[in-house]
Amino acid sequence: MGFGSVLKNGFTRRRFMKGALLGAGVAATGSAWAAQEIAQAMATGKKASDVRGYGVEPGRVNIGSNENPLGASPRAVAAIAENLHKINRYDFGVDLPVRLNKAHGVPGVEDFEFNFGDMRAFMRFRELNRVMVTPGSGPILQALAVIAANNGGECIEAVPGYGSVARGFQSFQMMGKDVSVVRVPTTADFVHDIEAMKAAITPTTSLIVVTNPNNPTGTIVPYDQLVSLVDAAPEQAIVLIDEAYIHFVRDPNYQDAVKLALERDNVVVARTFSKIYGLAGMRIGYAIGSQRMMDMLMAHMGFFGGGLSTLGMHAATAALDDDEFVDRTLTVVNDGKDYLSAAFDRLGLAYTPSHGNYMIVDVGRDSRRMSGELFRRGVMVRSGSGYRTREIDLLGNHLRVTIGKPDELEVFVNELEDILGGSSQG
Ligand SMILES: Cc1ncc(COP(=O)(O)O)c(C=O)c1O
Repeated sequence: MGFGSVLKNGFTRRRFMKGALLGAGVAATGSAWAAQEIAQAMATGKKASDVRGYGVEPGRVNIGSNENPLGASPRAVAAIAENLHKINRYDFGVDLPVRLNKAHGVPGVEDFEFNFGDMRAFMRFRELNRVMVTPGSGPILQALAVIAANNGGECIEAVPGYGSVARGFQSFQMMGKDVSVVRVPTTADFVHDIEAMKAAITPTTSLIVVTNPNNPTGTIVPYDQLVSLVDAAPEQAIVLIDEAYIHFVRDPNYQDAVKLALERDNVVVARTFSKIYGLAGMRIGYAIGSQRMMDMLMAHMGFFGGGLSTLGMHAATAALDDDEFVDRTLTVVNDGKDYLSAAFDRLGLAYTPSHGNYMIVDVGRDSRRMSGELFRRGVMVRSGSGYRTREIDLLGNHLRVTIGKPDELEVFVNELEDILGGSSQG
C-alpha cells in the first residue's frame, strides 16, 4: 500500500503527514521501497514484528484460538517443575476430583480427605463423586456425541455455535446411522434462541447443546432459560452445557449451570483449564453431572477420561489456587474488550459485546479473505465463515478475535485499519 491509497481512504492527515515526511526523506536517499515501508509503518504504528507473545514465535500475533495471552498460571508451571521427576510413575491421585467436588459444593464431600491406600474412603468418594476429569473438555463433547448418536434421534445445537458436537453427531449420519442434526439459528443479536431450540425438540431428541458463553459470539443464556430448556427435553435426551468460558462472564450476578447439573439426571456441564488458567497444552477438563451421567461417561471414556497425565493433574490442582493469575487474566481480557470496542466504534464496525475472552466484529467484507490478509501480516484471527452450515451463514463478514495482550491487540487494530482503509486486497 502506498501514500496515495493511505490518503484516498481517509487516514488522518497528521498520520499521513508524518509518514509522508519520513517517506520523502528516505525517497530522497534513493529507496522508493523503503519510503513506502516506512510510510506504512508510520501510518499503522506497531506491526506483528514488533511484539513478542507468550508461547508463540516472535513476530506472530496469535489471537485466533481463544487461549490465554499471559501464558500459563505460574503456580501451575511451578507444580509441573516440582513434579517433573515423578513422571516415571502412574501418580494420578484423586486430589483434583476431590478439590473440584468441594469447589462446586457437591453434597457429602465437604470434609472428605483422601489418604493414599485408604480403599474405604476411596469407595465412599466414588459414590459421592459428581466430577469426571478428562484430557481437556473436547473429549467430553465427543463422548457425548458418540453416546447420544448410539441412541439415535436428533442432536440440537445453535448456529453460529462451537459445533463440535454437531459435527461429531453428523459423522455418524455420514456413516449411515439413522440420526440427524438440527442447527437452530441464534437471534439477530447472536444469542441462543432458546424458544426456537425448544420448538425443535421431538420425542426422539437425544442431545441438546448449549455453549455458554457461546463460542464464537460471546453471548450468554440466563439460568431460568436453561432450566426451561432442560424441562422441555425428553427423558432420554442429554443436555450438555459447555462452560469453557464461564470465568469470563462479566455479570457478577450471573448463575452458572452447575446447580442444574447436580440437581437433574440428564444434564452435563463441561469445564476446561485451557482458557482462564492458560493450560490448553496440558489437556485438562472435566464434566459435572448426576451419578448416571458420570457412570455413563466413565463407561465410555474409562476412569479419568482414559488419558490424563500426571503433570496435567498437578498443574490443574495448583492452578485452582492461583487467584492472582485469574484476576490478572480477567483484567487483561476486560480491558482488551473495552479497547477493541472503542477501536471498532472509531472504525464504524459493528461488534457484539462478549462474555468470553474473544469478540466477533463485522468487518463488512468476506471474512475468509480478511483473515487471510491479516495472516499474511502476522496476525492470526478466526474467520466467522468457519461457523456456518451448508444452509446458514450468519458470520460470513465477521472475524472472531481472541483478546490478546495490549500490544497484540494494537497490532491487530493497526493492520485491520490499514486493510480497511487502504485497498481492496482484504
Ligand atoms: C466452547 C469450547 N468448548 C470446548 C473446547 C475444548 O477445549 P479443551 O479441549 O482444550 O478443554 C473449546 C476450545 O476452544 C471451546 O471453545
